[in-house]
Parts: sequence; structure tokens; C-alpha cells
Amino acid sequence: MRPANLKTRIFLDGGSLDETKQVLSLLGFLDGQTTNPTLLSKNPGIRERLEGGERLKESELIDFYRDLVKRVAAMVPEGSVSIEVYAEGATRAEAMLEQGREMFRWIPNAHIKFPTSAEGLKAASIAISEGIRVNMTLCFSQSQAAAVYVATRGAGRGNVFVSPFVGRLDDRGENGMDVIANIIRMYGKGDGHVEVLTASVRRPDHLLAGIKLGSDIVTAPLEVLKDWGERGLPLPDADYRYEARGLKPIPYREIDLSKDWHDYDISHELTDRGVERFSKDWNSLIR
Ligand code: E4P
Repeated sequence: MRPANLKTRIFLDGGSLDETKQVLSLLGFLDGQTTNPTLLSKNPGIRERLEGGERLKESELIDFYRDLVKRVAAMVPEGSVSIEVYAEGATRAEAMLEQGREMFRWIPNAHIKFPTSAEGLKAASIAISEGIRVNMTLCFSQSQAAAVYVATRGAGRGNVFVSPFVGRLDDRGENGMDVIANIIRMYGKGDGHVEVLTASVRRPDHLLAGIKLGSDIVTAPLEVLKDWGERGLPLPDADYRYEARGLKPIPYREIDLSKDWHDYDISHELTDRGVERFSKDWNSLIR
């Protein structure tokens, strides 16, 4: 069962229904799920078809994704399920938006994932004006999160998530957890319309540190949630300290949240690389 004093919502980061079931039975609760093309490519049903030498038509892959998301959504009816649009480096906002509008109709509890790039932000700002909930993915910096805040201003609370990727920053020697802390601190001066979703969680400490910092949501893969469940869902206490293991600190910056979103530095190498990898994984599944 959910620990009584746990404020952070806990999502599963996964692309298989079996994992959703396992987590629900292990934890006794689950607040939502995030998906992406890489996670989808690891789905056992997809793997089986690929290993049999099959490649799917794009429409078949979309049908598979829709079916999966519908089943997951039914298992977490009070929660949220994030569905990611297909984007390459050259994909324009209108093309992302078109997919987002369609995906948002798949289930009643969707958040649509757009990359935190100039085109993704443009798509998100229109999506929000149309009542579509968004999850801005592949966020790696405080200034990208500032742009998300401004581009989605006016949205109701719960309609916008920003997903800073901790693990991928750690992978290159930077303390990803600092970005979570910095964004939460910066948003503390705002109106609270963007929720921080700690993503790219690789180890149990990322989950605990996300909770300790007051992240609205943490999404974690099965292994991390399993470990947490098996240890009896411990929460960080007053003495809890995150062990940065020699990672380079990312300092907080004073950023004014009243500019136009185009005026923030929204480019990040890891965002570009992430878009590339997601599109590659998606394309590896189709003919
Ligand atoms: C979730 O929304 C993200 O897509 C996911 O956490 C990315 O994790 P990774 O960096 O381990 O691929």
C-alpha cells in the first residue's frame, strides 16, 4: 500500500503490461506509467514478432501501441499514462501535434510526450490551448524547464509535466539530480502549473532522492520499483543524503520566468541525441 506520508506520485517507466501487473501487485498501488519508443521496442509481444523475422507496418505498430496503452490505462484509471509522439530532428510542430491529437483520444488519462525542443515546445503550447495534457520529455537543463513553464502558461495544474532525465546526465559525469533540485527551486517562484517528473531513473537512490526533493512524480523502471517494494517501500528520512558518487555538480541559476519561451536557451545535445535514438528504436520495428 502507498505509504501514508508519500506525497510524490510513483509511475512505472515501462512498455509491457506484464510489468504494470507486477508492480501493482508488488507495491499495492501505482499512480501512472510512462512509455517511449525504446520501451515499446522491448515489449515481449513485439520482441517475439521481431525474433520470428517479422517487421511491422507502421499502422500495425501504432495499433499495437494504442492497444497496449489502453490496457495500461485501464489498470491505472485514476492515474496518467504518457504516450510519446514520433519525432526526428526535422519533424515540425504540426506533425507532432497531429499525432498528439490522435493519441490523446486513445484513452481518457493520457499525457502526450513532446520533446523539449523548439518544435516540441511549439507543439505543446498549441496542444495546451486545445486542452491536451502534455509531458515534456528529454529535458536536461534548468533553462529548458523555464521554457516549458512559459510555453504552457495558463494550463491547469496536472496538465503539464516536465521530465528531466537524471540517468542520462549521470552517464556523462554530471549530477542529474541537481537538475531536479534546480527546477523544483525555480518553479517554487512560479504558479505551480508544471509538475516535475523525475525520469531516466536508474537506481533506487534516484527514486529516494526524487521523493526527498519533493518531485511531484518519479517514474522508475520495474527493477527499481521491485527493489523498493521488496525493501518495504522505505521513504527518505530527515537524515537522508543523496550520494552523488563524484558526479560533477550542476549549479542553480537565477532564471526569470517572465520572458517569451523562445528567449531561453532550449538547445541541448542530449535532447537531440535522445530524439535520434527514440526514432531509431521506433524505425527498427517497422518495415
Ligand atoms: C520516461 O518518460 C523516459 O522516457 C525514461 O525515463 C527514459 O529513461 P532512460 O534514460 O533510461 O532511457
